[in-house]
Parts: sequence; C-alpha cells; structure tokens
Amino acid sequence: MIADLVLAILHHVLAFSLLGLLAAEAALLRPGLSGAWLTLLGRLDGLYGGAAMALVVVGIGRLIWGLKGWEFYVASWSFWAKMAAFAAVGIASILPTLRILAWRRAARLEPSHVVPDAEIAGARRLVLAELALFALIPVFAAMMARGIGS
Ligand code: HEM
Repeated sequence: MIADLVLAILHHVLAFSLLGLLAAEAALLRPGLSGAWLTLLGRLDGLYGGAAMALVVVGIGRLIWGLKGWEFYVASWSFWAKMAAFAAVGIASILPTLRILAWRRAARLEPSHVVPDAEIAGARRLVLAELALFALIPVFAAMMARGIGS
C-alpha cells in the first residue's frame, strides 16, 4: 500500500517535471541561441534525460509493486499504446539531444558561437512533436488504469 502510494507520487511528479522540462526546451529553442541560454538548454536536456530514465524505473516499479499486479496491465492494449507513445517521445528526442551536445561542443571551442537558425528550427519542430506525442500518454494512462482495452 505504502509502496504503491510512494511510487504513484513519484510517477506523477516525474511526469509533470518531464512536461515542464520539454516546454522550457521549446521556449529556449529560438533564433540567436548562444552563450548562457545554450548552457541552460544543455542542462535542462540532461535533466530531461535523467527524469525520463527515472520515470521508466518508477513505472516498472508500479507494474511490479502496484496494487493491481503486472498481469492487469500487460493484457491491455491501452498499456501498450502508452508504452508506444512514450517510446515515440524518446525516439523524437534523440536528434535534438545530439544537436544540443554538438552546439555545446562548438560553444566550448568558440564561446561566441551562435547556433544556425535552420538547426534551431529543426530541433524545435521535433521538441514540439515530442510535446504532441506526450499529450497522448495521460489519455492511455487513464484508460489502462481503468481496465479499458483488456
Ligand atoms: C515506462 C514508462 C511507464 C510505465 C511502465 C508506467 C506505468 C504506469 C502504471 C503501472 C500506472 C498505474 C495505473 C493504475 O493506477 O492502475 C501508471 C499510471 C499513470 N501514468 Fe504511467 N507509466 C510510464 C510512463 C508514464 C509517463 C511518461 C507518463 C506521462 C504523462 C505517465 C502518466 C501516468 C498517469 C497520469 C497515470 C495515472 C493514471 C490514472 O490513475 O488515471 N506514465 N503508469
């Protein structure tokens, strides 16, 4: 009971943190990105990766130690739809993360480095796609929690 509650609290806090971090990244991905803003973007993206990994661990913990038991979830398509949406968010995040790492490397070599506008626009499009896919996750989560799709 207590484990279920603690995991549920962590799950929600991490999920909302992930959403906040993604929205902050979208806001920072603007033309002229450089210097301290680029450093901040790199830090936020690192936190985003850490929070996503923690969410996977806590989510699996909820499957194992949650009140309903893992069999309840794996039999339901809404659970797998949620996993697919989460995986799609992860796949969409690969390129922006690689870009941010490359921009930060360039900025360390040349502190006045300004990221090309076309690269920013591409990364921003992907982060917006991540946000759109992310919005599907609570829909499937609410369905799977209520046994819809079993
Ligand atoms: C590997 C990743 C994940 C796993 C294994 C997982 C697993 C779970 C489990 C087992 C529950 C409990 C459902 C119940 O009460 O019966 C749950 C609930 C929930 N999850 Fe996840 N989750 C994952 C990722 C996410 C993400 C990324 C979000 C982002 C929004 C999310 C949002 C929710 C919400 C909102 C609920 C509460 C649903 C409700 O009670 O109506 N989960 N999740």
